[in-house]
Amino acid sequence: MTTANPRPIPAAPGRVPALGHLPALLRDPLGFLGSLARVGEVARVSLGPREVAVVTSPALVHTLLAALSRDCPRGSVQGTLREAFGDGLLMSEGALHRERRRALRPAFTAERVGSGVRTVQEVTRERIGRWRPGVPVDVAAEMTGLALEIVARALFGVRLPEDDAAAFQRALPDLVKGQIARSLCPHPLFARLPLPLNRRFDAAVAVLDRVVDRAVSGTGGSPAALPCAAGGLDAPAVRAEAISLFGAGTETVASTLTWLFHELLGAPEVHGRLLAELEGELGDAGTGLTPEALAKLPYLRRVLREVLRLHAPNAFLTRTAAVGVQLGPYAVPAGTELLYSLSALHRDPARYADPLRFDPDRWADGERVADPRLFLPFGAGRHKCVGESFAWMELTVVAATVLLTWRPEPVAGTRAREVVWTTVQARDVFMTVSPRTVRTSAAERPAGAAGGAP
Ligand code: HEM
Repeated sequence: MTTANPRPIPAAPGRVPALGHLPALLRDPLGFLGSLARVGEVARVSLGPREVAVVTSPALVHTLLAALSRDCPRGSVQGTLREAFGDGLLMSEGALHRERRRALRPAFTAERVGSGVRTVQEVTRERIGRWRPGVPVDVAAEMTGLALEIVARALFGVRLPEDDAAAFQRALPDLVKGQIARSLCPHPLFARLPLPLNRRFDAAVAVLDRVVDRAVSGTGGSPAALPCAAGGLDAPAVRAEAISLFGAGTETVASTLTWLFHELLGAPEVHGRLLAELEGELGDAGTGLTPEALAKLPYLRRVLREVLRLHAPNAFLTRTAAVGVQLGPYAVPAGTELLYSLSALHRDPARYADPLRFDPDRWADGERVADPRLFLPFGAGRHKCVGESFAWMELTVVAATVLLTWRPEPVAGTRAREVVWTTVQARDVFMTVSPRTVRTSAAERPAGAAGGAP
């Protein structure tokens, strides 16, 4: 909605001298960003010497990403990655972005995604086949390894050497920590200070470059083996795209899967309903897991949607107003950095009753699903996640394969933690597993196991 006389953006209360809102943001990032909805649909926040405008309403985030995408290109969060890795799809803008998006699209057609089902199932079976009954599984570490291997094998057709996979996994946290610090403090001098944070960020970039180079050369060094081959990209471009896919496709999926198992451990009724649906549609051994069968798992879809709502992985994303624009009722001056948190947006109590409660049935009536302006875990507009359909397939296949193989159980005395950098990561999620050999009997099945369409 635009108004004839746009208002200035209201300032958030609670600034402290010199640091502004930084202490509040660092103390509880998602709580602080969520609280800004009470200030306005957009709120001005001071981060030390800088001011940013935080967009707190899903409808205005959608406007920013879709209707205003030309005037408001990417901001410092992805700018940091661009400086480190060059112009991949995840980092680029304008004509170059359009060209890269065209080049990558063939890798994500319905047919290509469908043909990945078997590989995702195979990789999952191999990895979870190493779990042992009663031995605690570090779910976040396992899911990161799994998501990384899926990108390598399903999208690039290569197997990463174990050392490379482990180095990549170790480097990811340092990358996102450095990324958020540099985004909040984008002065070029900051990146050159000899701080441990900067040293670790640079080392993480070097590791990712090396692993991805080896993965690309594992395809025979020929870009023709890569999904982006259709665009006829040269070698540096292929490398930047490989970084985009490995970077964007690993942590997001890993954290969603980790939170999924965390939530199921605390919700045996949901777990029971899921199992009944999976057994009914796919058979006890999951042999019916075909691309077509994925569409027949409405309850699993509802559960995953609720995990993506409650734990949307992208905690901080930014755009910059290249010219003065009007966003809803507000005037946004040229040069304003606009920050939005997809994680905080989906926890707004004004939109979701008891927002921190995991409740797949809040999607039962299907109404909110119909409004893509309000549910945005994959973003919107020209930069909307290119891997979304691949991600849905991957989440569905991994969840079904794990749950039809193992029965997860909580580990006493452990407590999951949410760690917020540019992404929201799950830490200390542990489970033990026991073989799931017994079919859930009809009598055991909770009512409405197969559920309605979400
Ligand atoms: C749960 C899983 C995932 C979530 C929640 C997610 C979320 C997102 C979001 C929010 C964006 C938009 C960023 C922005 O507006 O600046 C994005 C972009 C992107 N995602 Fe995903 N993603 C997921 C999985 C994947 C996977 C599996 C891949 C590829 C293998 C992928 C590749 C990309 C790429 C390349 C972009 C940049 C698109 C562009 O700018 O045109 N993502 N993703």
